[in-house]
Amino acid sequence: MTTDTQASPHDAVGDSLAEATSDASLQRTVARSAQIEQEITADPARFRVLTGDRPTGNLHLGHYFGTLANRVALQRRGVDTFLVVADYQVIADRDGVGPIRERVLSLMADYLAIGLDPERTTIFTHSSIPELNQLMLPFLSLVTDAELRRNPTVKAEADATGGRPMSGLLLTYPVHQAADILFCNANLVPVGKDQLPHLEQARVVARRFDERYGRAQSDRPVFRAPEALLSGAANLLGTDGHKMSKSRHNTIEIGMDADTTAAVLKKAVTDSDRQITYDPAGRPEVSNLVLLAALASGRDPHEVAAEIGDGGGGALKRVVTEAVNEQFAPIRARRTELADDPAYLQQILTQGNARAGEVARQTLDQVRAAMRMQYA
Ligand code: TRP
Repeated sequence: MTTDTQASPHDAVGDSLAEATSDASLQRTVARSAQIEQEITADPARFRVLTGDRPTGNLHLGHYFGTLANRVALQRRGVDTFLVVADYQVIADRDGVGPIRERVLSLMADYLAIGLDPERTTIFTHSSIPELNQLMLPFLSLVTDAELRRNPTVKAEADATGGRPMSGLLLTYPVHQAADILFCNANLVPVGKDQLPHLEQARVVARRFDERYGRAQSDRPVFRAPEALLSGAANLLGTDGHKMSKSRHNTIEIGMDADTTAAVLKKAVTDSDRQITYDPAGRPEVSNLVLLAALASGRDPHEVAAEIGDGGGGALKRVVTEAVNEQFAPIRARRTELADDPAYLQQILTQGNARAGEVARQTLDQVRAAMRMQYA
């Protein structure tokens, strides 16, 4: 290998990824997100959002109140959105894909049932877009193994898999996510704060591509730097008061029926104090149910708690069950119809894949031009 590249900027990057989650940087991102919210209101057409999910199971209310509801809101405000069903990411930390086709279609049913409109939101599967995945090669040339090993999200994922040896795909998945974001020229990625290092990685890749390989058109970089849109969403926990996650069996799925929801909530953890209050730090389990009731009925949690008063855990569970079942009834009815029509779900996916594929081909053309690798 020759070493004729310019002075490598790589040394600074571990710091910049770590910096992405430092207090001062977080404050800046919070402030910038508030400003972006105003810019969206003023001119939604300035933005393109990319976000997505791994098809590993049914979406639950943690997803709904954490990110999904906000995606629908962004769509309604007129922001062009690309949504990746990250099937290739599923194999980063597990041996097989599972019943992947069913899971992808189930995710599609969730998306459409909550109100994502396929005419306004482009929903596509990772593995269907070769030109997106091809960006991985030049992008990998722009990062070092040391910086990937330091990446906080890679570390967190590796910890979550319990010391299992790390696959090359897990090590490099932030670069793959950078390709997800950059292929469609997205400039906005709605994230929780744990995901900020990802976004920083995408910004680093975009900048280095420009520094190293140049520009397809001389006036502007091929990739614009995406920004984070930090969500102010309340953090809904599972029915045991811990992080809501399928593996903990503490979820309420969007697609659950009313009776199952009632049964799951009946088993939710509460405490012996009959006076219901909203005190997330002191009474996490009870407060989480109060929060869920509040979110599902569009009310203030303190008000919900005061209304239940000394009714105890039983009354709290009745209130939260009713609120959830009422809010989700239309979504669930729609979801059942959609799930019964896999041909329709497939058609929506085919349409999204065609649209994403077109965008990806244009981007790869620009990348090839910038890299002087156009031979056809
Ligand atoms: N990692 C996300 C998840 O765990 C899914 C995802 C894939 C994503 N590519 C992305 C999110 C790019 C934001 C940006 O569900």
